[in-house]
Amino acid sequence: MKLDAPLIRKIAAKVGTPFWFYDAAVLRQRIADIQFMTSAPGVQARFAMKACPATKVLREMGAAKIWIDAVSGNEALRALRAGHAPGNNPPVVCFTADVFRDNALDVVLQNNLLPNIGSPGMIRQLAAAGYRGPVSIRVNPGFGHGHVNTCDTGGPSSKHGVWHSDLLAVKDAAVAVGMSVTMLHAHIGSGPKFEELHENLTRLALEFRELIPHFPQLTAVSLGGGIPHNYHDRDAQVPIEPLRELFTTCHQRISSAAHREIRLEIEPGRYYVAPSCTLVAQVHDIKRTQTNAKGRGATFVMVDAGFVDLVRPAMYGSYHQIEVLGKENGDPNQAREPIVVAGPLCESGDVFTRGGADEELVPRLLPRPEPGDLLVLRDAGAYGYAMSSNYNSIGKAPQVWAEPDGSVEIISRRESIEDILKAETSEKL
Ligand SMILES: Cc1ncc(COP(=O)(O)O)c(C=O)c1O
Repeated sequence: MKLDAPLIRKIAAKVGTPFWFYDAAVLRQRIADIQFMTSAPGVQARFAMKACPATKVLREMGAAKIWIDAVSGNEALRALRAGHAPGNNPPVVCFTADVFRDNALDVVLQNNLLPNIGSPGMIRQLAAAGYRGPVSIRVNPGFGHGHVNTCDTGGPSSKHGVWHSDLLAVKDAAVAVGMSVTMLHAHIGSGPKFEELHENLTRLALEFRELIPHFPQLTAVSLGGGIPHNYHDRDAQVPIEPLRELFTTCHQRISSAAHREIRLEIEPGRYYVAPSCTLVAQVHDIKRTQTNAKGRGATFVMVDAGFVDLVRPAMYGSYHQIEVLGKENGDPNQAREPIVVAGPLCESGDVFTRGGADEELVPRLLPRPEPGDLLVLRDAGAYGYAMSSNYNSIGKAPQVWAEPDGSVEIISRRESIEDILKAETSEKL
């Protein structure tokens, strides 16, 4: 969908740049897609809130009866404060992690959340903290596919979950200390190809079905997240009918193998939020390097957003479509040239146009912008603001939310020096 350029300029004039622009209509369409995929009775969707934990987004999920997957004590608290119910019956907020850090154990215990344990020792830690309730076990089934290798979530190189051949020993350890294993979970990642995801989910559901006789107290299985978003072709639609059919069939087969109702869960993150948000930056300068013995010269468009805002390109070489506002790429008559888009940070890796195995510069064909133009990075809603940092003490950029009726509100303001210094202290220990 094309951005409303006058609106974006108006917001930029009010809140400055860079800023994050959320389109509520796009988010709601993606929520509706997931509701469709999980519309059969006994199939439940969660939102992996790590992708975008803004209260406003969490409330949209709550209104759509979508449950939450949280990975830290504070994520769980954010979900509860946004109105998601505590307790494990039903387990509206599930806590999934490989390590209990900081307040995580306390938050799980105090709010009776379902812990989804990702490491065998977590059973011991829960027991030592006095927990005797239901647990879920995250399994590494030995297969899966991330969108890049560092995001591999299933297989020998993945740090996540309990390796499948250790599963029964971990279950026995849980039962021995008075816990019941009520859910089995695996997140096998969003490989780039839909067919591969479909195949992997089918295989995972079959493996869960085989495990049922070992888990008499099982009430749910979770196939995790990983429904992909196509960052290269923004309008490409993930086929949602086959996924609805898959989830419906898996639920029926697993329940009938168990001779009782077994809820089937999914917990996508990026699919809901990726296209709903755009990072808007301003062009400050354009400069060139010249070809020499070391390599090719390039045209650098210097913008005021950097990897402190959107880290995915620097971290994984991820692709985000870039447009010069008002000179969008759709016009075939528009003159374009290869451009490298770089940010303000004191790091050579602060470049949005990278790729390949060596993460080399990959210039984009863009209309040449002028200083002062706005440049937008699309599909920044998943792992965008959520992964932003305070490196270089810049402070996080504001988030702005637009409703279909044209109303616009700022949902988090630009961080100030006071925000950055807030946790600094000088207390004797
Ligand atoms: C346990 C778990 N569930 C769900 C997700 C969401 O994945 P995605 O955003 O690719 O759907 C993740 C992502 O890291 C995860 O670790």
